[in-house]
Amino acid sequence: MLRIGMLTSGGDCQALNAAMRGVVKGLCREGRSVEIYGFQDGYKGLIYSDFQMLKKEDFSGILTKGGTILGTSRQPFKQMRIPDENGLDKVEAMKHTYHKLHLDCLVILGGNGTHKTANLLRSEGLNIVTLPKTIDNDLWGTDMTFGFQSAVDIATDTIDKIHTTATSHSRVFIVEVMGHKVGWVTLYAGIAGGADIILLPEIPYDIEKVTEALDARKRAGKRFTIIAVAEGALSKEEAELPKKKRKQQKAAAGYPSVAYEIAEKIQERTDQEVRITVPGHAQRGGAPCAYDRVLATRLGAAAAKAVLDGQYGCMLGVRSGEIVRVPLEEVAGRLKGVDPKAEILEEARQTGISFGI
Ligand code: F6P
Repeated sequence: MLRIGMLTSGGDCQALNAAMRGVVKGLCREGRSVEIYGFQDGYKGLIYSDFQMLKKEDFSGILTKGGTILGTSRQPFKQMRIPDENGLDKVEAMKHTYHKLHLDCLVILGGNGTHKTANLLRSEGLNIVTLPKTIDNDLWGTDMTFGFQSAVDIATDTIDKIHTTATSHSRVFIVEVMGHKVGWVTLYAGIAGGADIILLPEIPYDIEKVTEALDARKRAGKRFTIIAVAEGALSKEEAELPKKKRKQQKAAAGYPSVAYEIAEKIQERTDQEVRITVPGHAQRGGAPCAYDRVLATRLGAAAAKAVLDGQYGCMLGVRSGEIVRVPLEEVAGRLKGVDPKAEILEEARQTGISFGI
C-alpha cells in the first residue's frame, strides 16, 4: 500500500487539476493499491491536518477544469518558522501530520514560495516530489511551468481586443500583465498581441525613450500605440535604488499599480490620450490551453514515476522538451527571469518593438 499526500499551494493557475490527474492516473495503474490524502488549501491543510481521502475517480473529468479541486492558499515561507496565534510550530505540525498518516511521500504543486517550504520539509526528512506551477514561469530548473501558456493566451487576447478600440480613438493603451517580479508573460503576450512597446522588470525602462517611441509612432501616422507592461516593471531610476528604499518610494507615491505610474509620466510628457487595461486575475482563470494540459499531464505522470522509483527530493521539469528531475535544493530560492540578452528580444526589436531603453 502506497500512501500519498497531495497539495496545491500559492496562487492558483490553469492545469493544476490536469497535473494532479496525471499523478493519480500514473500511480493507480496495474492494480496498485494507493491511498491519496488531499490536503485542503495548501500547506494550511498539512499544518492543521485538514484533509480528505480521495479516490481515483475524484480525479476523472478534471483535465479541463480551471483552479484546483484541493483549494490553495499562500503560506509565506518567511512565516513558516513563526508559531501561529496558538503557539503552534508550523513545520513541526506538518511533520506530525505526515508521520501520523504514515505517508510515503508528499506531492506538492507550487511556485517559488512553495518550493522553499518543500525544500525545508525535504531537509527535515520528508519524502517530497514537486511540480512546477505558475503563470509567471519564473521557476528555476524548468524551461516552462504549467499555467504560463494559458496566461499568455489570455493576456494576448486582451491586447488583441484593445487594438480595435485604441485605433478607433487614436489612443495610447497600457496593458498591465501579471508575472510578479519577472516579465515572461508580458514578453510573450506582447509579441503575440503585437504590442509596440514592452516593458519588463529585467530591462528597466527610460521614460524619455518610451515617450520618444510613442511620438515616433504618431509622426509615422500610426493612430495608436499599445504598451504591454509587466506588473513588476521598473524605471531605470527605481532599479538603481536599494530594494527597501524602492518599496518605500513606491508606497509613498501611492499608484494602484505600475500602469498608473507610467500613464501619469507619459501624460506629463505628451499630448496623447492614455488609457489603462489590467486583465488581472483573469490571466489565472478558466480552462488550461492545450499546451498546458499536455505539459501538466506529462509532468504529473513523471511525478508518479519518480514516486514509484522512490526518487524523492526533486521537482519534475521540462528542458528542451525532455522531462527532467531537478533536486529541490537547486530549485528553492532561485528565480528564473528573462535574460536581457536573449535572442527573442533581439528578434522582437527587429520587428519594431521597443523595450523602452
Ligand atoms: O504568482 C502568480 C501571480 O498571479 C503573480 O503573477 C501575481 O503577482 C500574484 O500571483 C498575485 O497574487 P494574489 O493572487 O495573491 O493576488
